[in-house]
Amino acid sequence: MTAGDVVVSDPEQDSGPLYESGWSLHRSDGETSDAILQEMVKLGDCLGTRVAGRSGQLREVVQPIVAEDAHPRSLSAQYGLGALPFHIELSHRPRPCRYLLLGCIDPGETPAATTLLDWRKLGFEREELALLEEAPVLVRTGRRSFYSTILAPGGTFLRYDPGCLEPLGERGREAMQLVADRITRAHSYALHWRQGDILIIDNWRVLHGRSRSAHGSGRSLARILIDA
Ligand SMILES: [Fe+2]
Repeated sequence: MTAGDVVVSDPEQDSGPLYESGWSLHRSDGETSDAILQEMVKLGDCLGTRVAGRSGQLREVVQPIVAEDAHPRSLSAQYGLGALPFHIELSHRPRPCRYLLLGCIDPGETPAATTLLDWRKLGFEREELALLEEAPVLVRTGRRSFYSTILAPGGTFLRYDPGCLEPLGERGREAMQLVADRITRAHSYALHWRQGDILIIDNWRVLHGRSRSAHGSGRSLARILIDA
């Protein structure tokens, strides 16, 4: 698939970086926020349908913010400018979006890396996968809170976000702890942004986080979410 002259590997095909590592990096031709967003929309349209994020917008610009300014149920409300823990985007929805696209409008004066981690490389044994597929968790999202599991049936996607998942009972606690422990021991990839970088993440497969940021750093990322 192509968007302009940027090639997006088809995740249904057994080749290309998106298939092989669960994420791929692209460069925007233009450097203005409009040009970067336009390129992101083109790439996203090759992959599926855009869905609105927490703000209700199809395109969002995200900046590190202090806890007091954050959406009350977001990770930023808990962690503020500190390192944001690994999570799957839209874990609070019954079906998290399939892809997440981030575009660097400005890396900021004190740049913060985006960290990436493929959950399939966390080395879960068969019994552990069964635990993740069966142990109950409560997904807290206000009046629409619902019960679910960390792993979707058949391992289609992982639902993991310490900001909105609450374990239920002993099994639920065991499952949450298992993922947290494996993440702590895993080697993740740190992407250091340059202006114009566009990152496509297979959100069903790759967890993402953010290293510590600074107040008023100027870091600014455009974000679009894709269902497929
Ligand atoms: Fe996120």
